[in-house]
Amino acid sequence: MELRGRHVTLRPTVAADASTLAAILAEPEVARWWGDFDLDRVVAELIVGDPDETPFAIEQDGIVIGYIQAVEENEPDFRSAGIDLFLRTDAQGRGHGPDAIRTLAAHLIDERGHHRLTIDPAAANERAIRCYERVGFRRVGIMRRYWRDPAGEWQDGLLLDLLAGELS
Ligand SMILES: CC(C)(COP(=O)(O)OP(=O)(O)OC[C@H]1O[C@@H](n2cnc3c(N)ncnc32)[C@H](O)[C@@H]1OP(=O)(O)O)[C@@H](O)C(=O)NCCC(=O)NCCS
Repeated sequence: MELRGRHVTLRPTVAADASTLAAILAEPEVARWWGDFDLDRVVAELIVGDPDETPFAIEQDGIVIGYIQAVEENEPDFRSAGIDLFLRTDAQGRGHGPDAIRTLAAHLIDERGHHRLTIDPAAANERAIRCYERVGFRRVGIMRRYWRDPAGEWQDGLLLDLLAGELS
């Protein structure tokens, strides 16, 4: 399954993507928010993943510039889907993140039938939060001491959500 955005294409990750994704995750601007990933962790979490996760490579002109995944909660009374992503440092700040998120969000709403999407950046990740708000996500609130940063310190997260119809 390939999903086409305005400028980026999302396609399922394959084993051959592992070294490219590991190299992107090693870039300081990405590692700062995603933590330490060796090749084995990339394969286990970003290529294979859990059954409720759908991982995609983000491509522009056939080149992998990042990664985005959907994590679906399919318990009928709590159905929703979460989105996580990262872009290569030199591909950031050009609108590719919003393009990739809109493309996956539209798929989750229109094809997968989700009425609610969530995203949970670090509260200090201002760039990510601005990007998600531009797409239509709204702030729900601070999750205190939500994630452990690469230095081992617990840090706050910000929960944002988007209802079908709010995608801009
Ligand atoms: C977060 C991320 C997905 C956003 O995608 P993107 O394509 O870079 O998003 P945009 O092109 O919309 O650019 C980000 C916006 O923040 C602005 N921005 C850039 N650097 C910034 C900074 N240090 N602080 C605040 N805002 C910043 C950009 O100018 C742009 O805003 P504007 O166009 O309204 O002026 C991408 O930057 C990324 O992968 N970052 C590293 C990993 C990461 O943080 N992943 C998310 C974890 S939840």
